[in-house]
Amino acid sequence: MTLLQVSSLCAGYGAVEVLHDLAFDVQPGEIVALLGANGAGKTTTLRAVAGLLPARGRIALDGAEVTAASPAQRVRLGLALVPQGRGTFGEFSVEENLALGAYTVTSRRQIGQDTERWFELFPRLRERRRQQAGMLSGGEQQMLAIARALMSRPRLLLCDEPSLGLAPAVTQEMFAILRRINEEQGTALLIVEQNADVTLRLAHRAYVMETGALTMQGPARELLASPDIQRSYLGA
Ligand SMILES: Nc1ncnc2c1ncn2[C@@H]1O[C@H](COP(=O)(O)OP(=O)(O)OP(=O)(O)O)[C@@H](O)[C@H]1O
Ligand SMILES: [Mg+2]
Repeated sequence: MTLLQVSSLCAGYGAVEVLHDLAFDVQPGEIVALLGANGAGKTTTLRAVAGLLPARGRIALDGAEVTAASPAQRVRLGLALVPQGRGTFGEFSVEENLALGAYTVTSRRQIGQDTERWFELFPRLRERRRQQAGMLSGGEQQMLAIARALMSRPRLLLCDEPSLGLAPAVTQEMFAILRRINEEQGTALLIVEQNADVTLRLAHRAYVMETGALTMQGPARELLASPDIQRSYLGA
């Protein structure tokens, strides 16, 4: 069954509609990229899916409509968002940030196990487990934001520009970790990125968004080879 099915989605801020009639889907275990220029509406799309913004249309998880569900209900149903600009809690320690990501989890044992699991994947976070998140480097904060979102054991992780502000080598490391999470946990990913080249090499499928509407979609490999995409997003 389709993991995330979005149809006729409209959303915006106040009277201003930003998203116009979007339709897209993510299958279980799939990596889907959402590409587009600054201001196209990518962040707004992820926020609407996560329930942080009122939306019209239909958003369904595993076939069940969640368009009116609260963000916490959607987390319980398997959705987690890594917000743009990291969004970690700077005054809290690394460990405390992870515990906050597990706010829907009642089992302390599960929280302890998952913390250890993500420390294995992100060894630098283990070394800094008692350090304030605000003192971490940009790349470390981004890893913490991903680990924190994983604490709710999502089946679909929404990632808003995970490579923002990171050096190319750290971006590569980040994408390798995302691929591992996808392969080892079967977690589906919906990734918003400016970095089209790296993202299309990671993703199975991609959508392109322009001024609040989806204008192109297809297998990532095909988009990577498309002259339109090369001209607009790959600097060819
Ligand atoms: N809180 C807000 N209030 C009013 N308008 C907003 C708000 N957030 C975003 N917008 C507007 O909505 C449109 C889409 O913004 P959005 O943040 O979704 O774009 P984006 O594709 O994520 O861009 P970027 O690549 O720069 O992150 C823009 O025109 C933006 O000015
Ligand atoms: Mg954005």
